Amino acid sequence: MRSSILWGFYVMFFVGYAEEVSTSEGTVKGPRKPVLLEDVAATEAFINAAEVVVVGFFKDSERPEVSEFLIMVQNIPEVPFAIANGSQVLSHYNVTRNTISLFRMVDNKRQDVEIEDIKGLDANKLSRFVRANELRWVTEYNPMTAVGLFDSVVETHLLLLTNKSSPMHTEMMNKYREAAKLFQGKLLFILVDILAKGNDRVMSYFHLKKSQLPALAAYHTPDEEQEVLSLDDISVEIIKEFCDGFLQKLQAKEKLKTEDKVLKEEL
Ligand SMILES: *[C@@H]1O[C@H](CO)[C@@H](O)[C@H](O)[C@H]1NC(C)=O
Ligand SMILES: *[C@@H]1O[C@H](CO)[C@@H](O)[C@H](O)[C@H]1NC(C)=O
Ligand SMILES: *[C@@H]1O[C@H](CO)[C@@H](O)[C@H](O)[C@H]1NC(C)=O
Repeated sequence: MRSSILWGFYVMFFVGYAEEVSTSEGTVKGPRKPVLLEDVAATEAFINAAEVVVVGFFKDSERPEVSEFLIMVQNIPEVPFAIANGSQVLSHYNVTRNTISLFRMVDNKRQDVEIEDIKGLDANKLSRFVRANELRWVTEYNPMTAVGLFDSVVETHLLLLTNKSSPMHTEMMNKYREAAKLFQGKLLFILVDILAKGNDRVMSYFHLKKSQLPALAAYHTPDEEQEVLSLDDISVEIIKEFCDGFLQKLQAKEKLKTEDKVLKEEL
């Protein structure tokens, strides 16, 4: 009797101990490692599997940027990282010297870091590069992503200004994200959380008051053309209609400008 209690205690102790070991093994697995891409097919699959991925194409693994790359991988857990070093993969991606490339779906863009041109390239600079260029189907607006947003070839933005703590938030974001996919390469969808520091400035830029939120704001960066829509309810149809209307307005404006130019040239 006594021994079985004791036995039970030992089993419990042992199981508990084993669990502790395995969980701590789970967290202390050693540093996060980038995936090694062996061929072009694997590289393409990796690039197509996430909204934003980063690949280090390394011809020479002895150079300092390779170790800085491995440090950066630890800093940004939400982005998948890989390394490719096979000659076939490198030539397929037109790599002739060590190159770190960010691939993103939202505007179908490959953005390279010009390693040789950046003095003292370190993990922090690389992290900033990734943070700035990490544009997604819906990109959350902050001072880092603002850089990448204004750097994209897509010059029309759609902003959803909203209170992220609102109980409707998740449902709203699902619809917003769904609509974003309909406008790939045409509009960048942005989330502006009005609770985040500094974002009240975005709100006042569009002359919006807190009582008018949530709201959509369409914005064309070259001429600052803009349009605002206050929402009671959000649906993919409402977003689509608003975006189509705005894009048509831009098109009409562009047409007018060319006609004007032709007219002036004829005079
Ligand atoms: C590519 O990297 C892997 C892992 O670091 C290494 O084992 C392999 O030898 C490298 N291949 C070439 C062609 O450098
Ligand atoms: C490599 O460069 C060629 C010629 O500029 C281009 O057609 C091709 O798409 C590039 N490959 C990749 C994977 O970007
Ligand atoms: C944001 O939403 C939360 C939850 O509904 C609310 O408590 C808070 O007052 C709102 N903040 C603003 C600035 O609207």
